[in-house]
Amino acid sequence: MNKNKNFYITTPIYYPSAAPHIGHLYTTVACDAIARFKRKQGYNVMFLTGTDEHGQKIEQKAKEAGVTPKQYVDEIAEKFQKLWKYVNVDYDRFIRTTDEYHEKSVQNIYRTLLEKGYLYKSEYKGKYCTPCESFWTESQLDENGRCPECHREVKESTEEAYFFKLSAFSEKLEKLLTETDYVQPEWRAKELVNNFIKPGLEDVCVSRTSFTWGVKLPFDEKHIAYVWIDALSNYITALGYENGKFDDMKDFWPADVHMVAKDIMRFHALIWPAMLMALDLPLPKKLSVHGYINFNGVKMSKSIGNVVDPFVLGERYGVDAIRYHILREMPFGSDSDYSNEIMINRINSDLANDFGNLVSRTVAMVDRYFGGTLPETRENGDFDGDLKEMAVKLAPAVEKLVDETKLSLALTEIMTMVSRANKYIDETTPWILAKDPDKIPRLACVLYNLLETIRICASLLDPFMPQLMPKALEQIGASAADTEFEKLSVFGVLPANVTVKKGDILFPRIDVEKEIEYLNSVIAPNKSESKTDNGSVNDDDLDGAGVITIDKFAEVKLRTGKVIACEKVAKSNKLLKLQINDGRGIRQIVSGIAKWYKPEDLVGKKIVFVANLAPAKLCGEVSQGMVLSCDIKSNADGKQQVILLEVNPDVPDGTAVR
Ligand code: MSP
Repeated sequence: MNKNKNFYITTPIYYPSAAPHIGHLYTTVACDAIARFKRKQGYNVMFLTGTDEHGQKIEQKAKEAGVTPKQYVDEIAEKFQKLWKYVNVDYDRFIRTTDEYHEKSVQNIYRTLLEKGYLYKSEYKGKYCTPCESFWTESQLDENGRCPECHREVKESTEEAYFFKLSAFSEKLEKLLTETDYVQPEWRAKELVNNFIKPGLEDVCVSRTSFTWGVKLPFDEKHIAYVWIDALSNYITALGYENGKFDDMKDFWPADVHMVAKDIMRFHALIWPAMLMALDLPLPKKLSVHGYINFNGVKMSKSIGNVVDPFVLGERYGVDAIRYHILREMPFGSDSDYSNEIMINRINSDLANDFGNLVSRTVAMVDRYFGGTLPETRENGDFDGDLKEMAVKLAPAVEKLVDETKLSLALTEIMTMVSRANKYIDETTPWILAKDPDKIPRLACVLYNLLETIRICASLLDPFMPQLMPKALEQIGASAADTEFEKLSVFGVLPANVTVKKGDILFPRIDVEKEIEYLNSVIAPNKSESKTDNGSVNDDDLDGAGVITIDKFAEVKLRTGKVIACEKVAKSNKLLKLQINDGRGIRQIVSGIAKWYKPEDLVGKKIVFVANLAPAKLCGEVSQGMVLSCDIKSNADGKQQVILLEVNPDVPDGTAVR
């Protein structure tokens, strides 16, 4: 046991958001599963999450809402707490960056950085992206001169500011990224070295004077702390660093795992370790970086309108199934694609068919053949050895994968065991054994082995599905003591005369078609309707328009985009409705090409579209632009044919075409 061992795991702190979506869920549910797993192993766990409540964006939103920033964050910050409670996230501490003790620590951190010579005053000239709260250098902007993260416009900004000497840590950071396994997966570390360290690390502007909603610098009160320094500090201020509120630094620092998504990796892999080095604090042991949950290939986000509401999904399929689904689908370090179909099929196959069935069949057989209590006389037989050997190796294998934060693989491992157990039922055919009175001891042995395998699997699944696994364990007659971690590598823990207790079906099978229809009606991609409705779009408008000047041509904005979904327009046999990733989000374009293209042929194509065409409605569907195509006459029959203009797939979405 690890009784006196401490384990500290953190999620990013979230921007208060009126509508958290399942994209937000991944990191926190993943950390919760790891925290529960470590607690099960006997660790003394500190699991931290919270909200990131300062910054210009919040100040602006509060102004629009006609309230103070504090009123604004108070009202919506609790949405996250409600969500975490709903999905059974059992954190140990919740920090808000507006908590007084945190603000005090941030001021002390700035003071120390200044005293140690890592802060200096200068003038900031650069590009600032308000939604991302990020400064960018010219060379970091995207090909359209916009924010490389969200592709929105950046503002030219000049003001007196304090700078953090990030450049002084260049060598040490390169070592951290190349010689240690701080960043996981490793290839992400290489990305950072190539994109940020090799081109030369620049000092970071860490104070602002153009707004007031933030922590005031103690030595220069017209300056507000840069929101990322404020936010990153939470990982130590929540333990009591320089504030006296808690005294947990000695037990929990350095953190064992910081888990973040790829968009905020650079803050955690460059600025954060440099800050800690400057403060003479040890570095966290691991930064685990995961990808996005995408919806039709695009990051799930409210601004794109493709959010999936965790409360809707939880109500329909149960919170455990949603937790299982998102953790199982996300490959280590890469993106995962959410779709209603994938989710429902996953729940049906893994949870209803494989795991749920294994439990209900086994319990039903113990009930039917032995009145619910197994006899103590048992007889070993074929196939037992293989099953037992695999079962006792499961817990150490899952432990390793959880330690590596490879949760999808950990779940796959458990589910492979579940499948093996189902196969064992087919191999041993208990229903045939039951017919022969001489085979009753063998039947008892088979059912006992199945109960044992379920005990091990359900106990290992418990951190991932904390609501239903205790119920599964109760059904097979396992006590709390039978589920202790060390007992999961041992076969034969349940009492020989164990009594089962039939219960509700754990994961009812979902009617795929009915549910998809329902989900599509409540969770749909961007439905934003344009006010403009000019009735029709004439594809021939540009034909014969005569000579135009270059300025006139420049008024037409052409851009590249990827077709991520396509379907026929219901009331028309000519029109197709294309969902296009335009580099900033998804736009819908309706095009009269149904005669020449099947919807499925278009998905994945990189096309060119007119980006600034006034929106129009075609057969009731809003079209936000026009795709470019070539009209030709077919050599074969002289009939008109339309061929879409395609571009090289390597060209990023949203690239201007000139
Ligand atoms: N406030 C910062 C974090 C500061 S940590 C010192 C922030 N907040 S956030 O609310 O925008 O995002 C919180 C986390 O959720 C980030 O890791 C972000 O990438 C993640 N996700 C938001 N949408 C996501 C998906 N669709 N998929 C996976 N994770 C996503 O960033």
